[in-house]
Amino acid sequence: MSINRTPVSYWPLGQNERPWRAIDARTTPGIGVRLKLVSTPEQLTPEPGLRTVEDGGARAAATGEIRLEGVSKFYGDVTVIDDLTLDIEPGSFYALLGPSGCGKTTTLRMIGGFEVPSVGTVHLDGHDVTNLPPNKRAVNTVFQSYALFPHLTVAKNVAFGMERKGVNKAEIKRRTAEALESVQLAHLAERRPAALSGGQQQRVALARALVNRPGALLLDEPLGALDLRLRRQLQVEIKKVQQEVGITFVHVTHDQEEAMTMADVIAVMNRGKIEQAGSARELYDYPSTAFVANFLGQSNLVKASITGTDGDSSVAETHDGQKFKVPTGRVAATTGELAVGVRPEKVWISELDALDREERRCNRIRATVITSAFLGVSLEYHVKTPGGDELIVTVQNNARDQVDWLADGTEVELSWEPDHTFVVKVGADV
Ligand SMILES: Nc1ncnc2c1ncn2[C@@H]1O[C@H](COP(=O)(O)OP(=O)(O)O)[C@@H](O)[C@H]1O
Ligand SMILES: [Mg+2]
Repeated sequence: MSINRTPVSYWPLGQNERPWRAIDARTTPGIGVRLKLVSTPEQLTPEPGLRTVEDGGARAAATGEIRLEGVSKFYGDVTVIDDLTLDIEPGSFYALLGPSGCGKTTTLRMIGGFEVPSVGTVHLDGHDVTNLPPNKRAVNTVFQSYALFPHLTVAKNVAFGMERKGVNKAEIKRRTAEALESVQLAHLAERRPAALSGGQQQRVALARALVNRPGALLLDEPLGALDLRLRRQLQVEIKKVQQEVGITFVHVTHDQEEAMTMADVIAVMNRGKIEQAGSARELYDYPSTAFVANFLGQSNLVKASITGTDGDSSVAETHDGQKFKVPTGRVAATTGELAVGVRPEKVWISELDALDREERRCNRIRATVITSAFLGVSLEYHVKTPGGDELIVTVQNNARDQVDWLADGTEVELSWEPDHTFVVKVGADV
């Protein structure tokens, strides 16, 4: 089989795209000469129908299993990725979540083959691919900029890579239709990109990647350019597509809500390390570091240490001598710098001594209301403890429990279940 590995895209490239093979438009049949044509990583894919990883002669079907082992990446003397190990199950939706600059894109590019780790190995489908180029890896990348050909219809955009590879016409037609069907764009197959909304263009980019039948799809902030409403809609749609096609998706985002909506597993990254990986629920209910506790949702954290046990619980004592019970399973560490925490929605707030017996939870602390805000679905109180810590308490606006709005300056009692209390490690971030 003769394969032409020079699919093309048009200038300018998006922020994460790298040209590495320029093509003279005048010698490329069927392409308008006004376009400057270069290849983008996302389009250099394994040949159709051959979903294999070539690894020194060894061949295996692409399952989309991804493993990074002890991977570090240095630029000069700056450590961008710091001894990172991760396992991604075949067929899962895996999100790399973290603030800008924490190393998400670099990690994705090492999986895709656009960067080589300084230390460590990358495995796809059980094979070491650390030194294989992108086109020898059964993964595809979807970038934030869609890089669609403006002069080609939606169907032609999707079919383009296959046409250049010489796939037969019937096969191209079938797979294009299939890919457009999977992103619900079959009815727009003959439109040009300019006549599509941003969300529809994003779906064309997705179809174009899916049509190559990669074992895994890598998505780098694919919804970053869209407004919030559209982003929310596409989050659900992309998740649906992933479940239908059943391949591994690795999704990079800095948006916690996006990660929680879409991913089976979220890896929270900070400064080139994965702080914690797990389901949204695990990370929210059992954060192991202060960074995770604050990056997914809000947390009230007070510096503390573990000073003893009480039955099945540990006792956390805050810097100002308050003692709280914490289930031992929710204590992420017992030594080093620690904080005891509780989520704002788990706390009951009431005027001093006004809590009913059954409302009075075992963990209690006094405080003073500093300020409050009415947020529609909830009331949010900011309070200050005698030890000087500022805490947040949210009260559902369901008119059942807390009907009185507590004025600023009110002396209050906060109370919550030991089961909702956790102890986390504090890094340099709190
Ligand atoms: N080619 C490079 N040379 C030097 N530093 C780089 C290079 N690429 C990325 N970095 C640095 O690595 C860090 C992580 O970058 P990146 O992986 O793009 O983060 P993220 O995608 O999480 O925003 C950043 O501080 C960035 O400036
Ligand atoms: Mg990035």
